[in-house]
Amino acid sequence: MARVELDRVNKIYRGRGIEVHAVRDLSLTVEDGEFVAILGPSGCGKTSTLRMIVGLEEITGGEIRFDGRRVNELGPEARNVAMAFETYALYPTFTVFENLAFPLEVRGFERPRIEREVKEIARLLEIEDILGQKPGQLSGGQQQRVSLGRALVREPAVFILDEVMSHIDAHLKFRMLFELKRLHQRLGRTMIYVTHDQVEALALADRVAVMSNAELQQFADRDGLYNRPANRFVADFIGEPPTNFFDARIEQRDGELLLPVPGSSLVFRPDGERRRALERVARAEVVVGIRPQNLALEPVEARGERIEAEVDIFEYLGEMAILALRSGERMFRALASPRRRLEPGTPVALHYRREDVMLFDPATGDFIA
Ligand SMILES: Nc1ncnc2c1ncn2[C@@H]1O[C@H](COP(=O)(O)OP(=O)(O)O)[C@@H](O)[C@H]1O
Ligand SMILES: [Mg+2]
Repeated sequence: MARVELDRVNKIYRGRGIEVHAVRDLSLTVEDGEFVAILGPSGCGKTSTLRMIVGLEEITGGEIRFDGRRVNELGPEARNVAMAFETYALYPTFTVFENLAFPLEVRGFERPRIEREVKEIARLLEIEDILGQKPGQLSGGQQQRVSLGRALVREPAVFILDEVMSHIDAHLKFRMLFELKRLHQRLGRTMIYVTHDQVEALALADRVAVMSNAELQQFADRDGLYNRPANRFVADFIGEPPTNFFDARIEQRDGELLLPVPGSSLVFRPDGERRRALERVARAEVVVGIRPQNLALEPVEARGERIEAEVDIFEYLGEMAILALRSGERMFRALASPRRRLEPGTPVALHYRREDVMLFDPATGDFIA
C-alpha cells in the first residue's frame, strides 16, 4: 500500500547549452488506493513526472515521498512500483506467456500459481489466444495489452500506466477501461494513469491532475473540473465540444448586472454568486464561459435565461448534434438532439441557467466564479 506525495518536484533536462524545464514545482498527493489520472497535451511533462515517481529519472528539485518516506535516492527496485509504458518494452525472444510469467518467476512463485495468475490477466486483457506468440508477431494494440498485463501481474504497491491505450481501437478500449476500473476496485492499489485523452481520464480516475506547460493547472474530481475549472485552459481542455468563451463588458442597467458581448447581440446574466464575485474584483471587462452542453434549444427552467442566434452549421456527433451558431461576429456552439435538423440561417433561442455562466479574468485567465 502506498500514498504518493510529490512536493514541489522539478525536472530540468540539460544538454549542450540547452535547458528544458519539463516539470515545474509540481505538488500532488495521491492517497493510498486512489486512482489518479495525469492529463495534459503532449509534451506537458507527464512522462517525466512518472519516470521520477518510478525512479527512472533523477529528480532535479523537490521531494517525492511514499508513505511519508523520501524516495528521491532509491532505485526503481526499492520502490515497489510497476510501470507500463506507451512503448512496449517486452522481451522479444520470450513468448507472451513467458513475458507475463517472468515477473512472477522473479518473485519465486510456484508453477501452478504462475499459470493461474497469467491466465487470469490474459483473460482480463483478451490475449488468451496469443499466449504462445512472440512480441514481433503482434499488432501494436496486442503488444500494448501484453505490456499492461506485465505491469498488472506484479501486483506492486503503485501502478503507473503511461498512455497504455493509445494504440488500442476505440471499441476494445471501452471494455478495457471498464476492466481496468474493476481491477482497481478489486485490488485497491494506488494507480496513476497518464493520458492525453480526457475521456479515459474522466472514465477511470477518482481525481484528475491537469497539466499544461510543465505545470499543474488543477487537481480535482470530475465535478470540480467541469464546474469550477481553475482557469481558461482547464475549461477549454475538459469537455467536448470545448467551452465557449466570450469577451464581455460589465454593465449595470436598472440595478441589474449584465454582460453584453461586443460585436453581437448576446447579453449574459450571471446569478447572485457570480454577480457578487464580479463586484468584488471591480473591473470593466470579463471573459464569459459557457459549455455547449449548458445551452439548450428548449427552456431549461421557468426562471431560465436566453440568448438568440442563427444556425451556421448543423453537425452530427454520435448520439448528439453540434450546432455551430452565430450572433453578429461571434461564433459559438451548443449541443442539440439530432432528430430535428436545423437549416443554416434558422434563428434559434438558446436557454441557459444563470449559475452555468462561468467567469474568467481577461488578463490571467483565472477562474473568478
Ligand atoms: N531525456 C530528455 N532530454 C531532454 N528533453 C526531454 C527528455 N525527455 C523529455 N524531454 C522534454 O521534456 C518535455 C516534457 O516531456 P514529457 O515528460 O515526455 O511530456 P509528455 O509525456 O507529457 O508528452 C518535452 O518538452 C520533452 O521534449
Ligand atoms: Mg508521455
